[in-house]
Amino acid sequence: MILDRHNRLNTSDLRARLKTFDISDEHFDNAQIPEFIDQMQVYEGAMYEISTKLEVLDDEFQVRFSHDPIHHMERRLKSVDSIIGKLERKGLPISVKSVKDNLFDVAGIRVICNYRDDVYSVSNYLSSQSDIQVLRVKDYIKKPKQNGYRSLHVIYAVPVFLSSGAHYTPVEVQFRTIAMDYWASLEHALRYKSDLPDAKLSEHSQTLLDCAKSLQNVEVQMQHIHRDINTAPQAEET
Ligand code: GTP
Ligand code: MG
Repeated sequence: MILDRHNRLNTSDLRARLKTFDISDEHFDNAQIPEFIDQMQVYEGAMYEISTKLEVLDDEFQVRFSHDPIHHMERRLKSVDSIIGKLERKGLPISVKSVKDNLFDVAGIRVICNYRDDVYSVSNYLSSQSDIQVLRVKDYIKKPKQNGYRSLHVIYAVPVFLSSGAHYTPVEVQFRTIAMDYWASLEHALRYKSDLPDAKLSEHSQTLLDCAKSLQNVEVQMQHIHRDINTAPQAEET
């Protein structure tokens, strides 16, 4: 199952949004608007290519081993507001070239797997496909962040074939288990959506860190049971 966190790219909405930026903030100049829209379509194509590859792998596991490694996927394109906001935060130029050179998460897919072994088998099978490249790996499962965040982040470059030829385009894929996703959603809400007093915030952050450790223990135990009843090949953690 794939959840689209936004509708398909709507070029007239995008053009209208870019024009408001152009007038009020002197951001993308008019000449760049068509180029930006073209580039967003390339990002969308790259996102669909990777999610199709993941669906094919999931279907193969279902057919061969009667096991679905992927519980569900979510995909999204970064909004114009977030793209400009991120460039500004990083003090980078506001141009299509700057987006292409500096932002690797305009196209994003979150792959929520059933078990930790699934995270590594699905990501390894995808990474070994000959038509895509792995640009960057951050393994926050092996080395969780200080706040307890766990996920495997991989940036892929996938060729999108246009009339002008192949355009290698980055897609950020976050692989995680259901438990990691459950935890990350609450931590995200605590960080971005709450206006709690500092003392409460730090108390909850500490509790969340404890929860991350408990969830990790539960996952290890459940993974152990699942390994005993599962016939699929075991993942190599690279
Ligand atoms: P930025 O993209 O600029 O944030 O830097 P980066 O690409 O080095 O970031 P990284 O790969 O570490 O993380 C990118 C994404 O992972 C974020 O946009 C979030 O979706 C997710 N993420 C990273 N750290 C956390 C965290 O501590 N909590 C939660 N809930 N999500 C996180
Ligand atoms: Mg990022």
